[in-house]
Amino acid sequence: MKIAVLRETAPGEARVAATPETVKKFAALGATVAVEAGAGGPASIADAAFAEAGGTVGERAATIAGADIVLGVQGPDPAALAGAAPGAWVVAGLNPFGDRARIDAYAAAGLEALAMEFMPRITRAQSMDILSSQSNLSGYKAVLDAAAEYGRAFPMMMTAAGTVSAARVFVMGVGVAGLQAIATARRLGAQVSATDVRAATKEQILSLGAKPIFVEAVKGIEGEGTGGYATEMSDEYKAAQAELVSSHIAKQDIVITTALIPGRPAPRLISDAQVASMRPGSVIVDLAVEQGGNVEGAVPGEVVLRHGVKIVGHRNVPSRLAADASALFARNLFNFLSAFWDKEAGRPVLDAEIGDAIRLTQGGQVIHPRLTGAA
Ligand code: NAI
Repeated sequence: MKIAVLRETAPGEARVAATPETVKKFAALGATVAVEAGAGGPASIADAAFAEAGGTVGERAATIAGADIVLGVQGPDPAALAGAAPGAWVVAGLNPFGDRARIDAYAAAGLEALAMEFMPRITRAQSMDILSSQSNLSGYKAVLDAAAEYGRAFPMMMTAAGTVSAARVFVMGVGVAGLQAIATARRLGAQVSATDVRAATKEQILSLGAKPIFVEAVKGIEGEGTGGYATEMSDEYKAAQAELVSSHIAKQDIVITTALIPGRPAPRLISDAQVASMRPGSVIVDLAVEQGGNVEGAVPGEVVLRHGVKIVGHRNVPSRLAADASALFARNLFNFLSAFWDKEAGRPVLDAEIGDAIRLTQGGQVIHPRLTGAA
């Protein structure tokens, strides 16, 4: 059983899908692990550290040759996988809706593509959930990015020269990233408020010492769909939300938006007019910028100035904390594969609940119902 870890090739991707810790653990299960030279460099992991952990470090072709499982953070270029064992697994964040052509290429090459972002949100899969591990870091980093762009301080400070008032931070979308953003902004001393469409988040916001800002008594308030995710809201709800948010946003210094609806473009939460209502020097961080953006005027990969307000749209925020993001991502992959390790077969054998949820391709075909249109 050979596991290959490739150097990521997507522009700006600094993470790596294995760490010396996980290489050692895979070796302990009886697998051999081949790591492409330089794979860990951007995440501050030297080739020598992989070798010390029991990995074989080499060039790409040697790394992939005969591999049964290829690990990636993002989906590897199908052309780079030539030489892998027939039916080899490709286990990574595969962006199935955004990178469909690549999924088709995996199918055509007879590879079995397993999309880690489709991992079901069930208790036993929590330690395998890349969306959670990476979103948590994104929420933290979003607040630091906001602080770096903001020309004022976060905490209230009483000095001999006078008082500096606390920054007002508003977090929109209280999933994993939003919760961490609230906690981080609180730690920095800001006055924090937050909103979500899922009523269950109200308690969570309060428990973190922040103020919930919620639309009350409007049809379609539940907002919670399958798997704990948000659903699209009614028009009535959207109008009430826009009104409530407008008056609130105008008084904020920092807004962090994290709202996503699975399989759909990100909901638009902040209009250009609302940006204009904020005072100059305010900062908005749009963590959904790559999924279409929560904020009008946000540009992926850029910090833009609109009406004196900075709108931060960094791409791939977890990669901006590459060492920690890699460590958690690599553990998610290890936790997943090791949970299904079959000692006799000497390899993982998936069960239906998780296998069917994440398997995109098999036997030369794209088989996942969310991609074939069957779901
Ligand atoms: P996400 O990244 O899909 O979305 C972020 C947040 O945006 C969500 O809280 C969502 O409700 C909110 N949102 C969507 N549309 C909005 C709008 N129009 N206005 C305001 N907010 C809006 O969510 P994430 O972080 O993936 O978490 C989703 C849920 O899954 C949470 O309940 C979380 O606790 C749960 N979860 C469960 C896990 C498990 O049991 N294994 C693991 C991780 C999360």
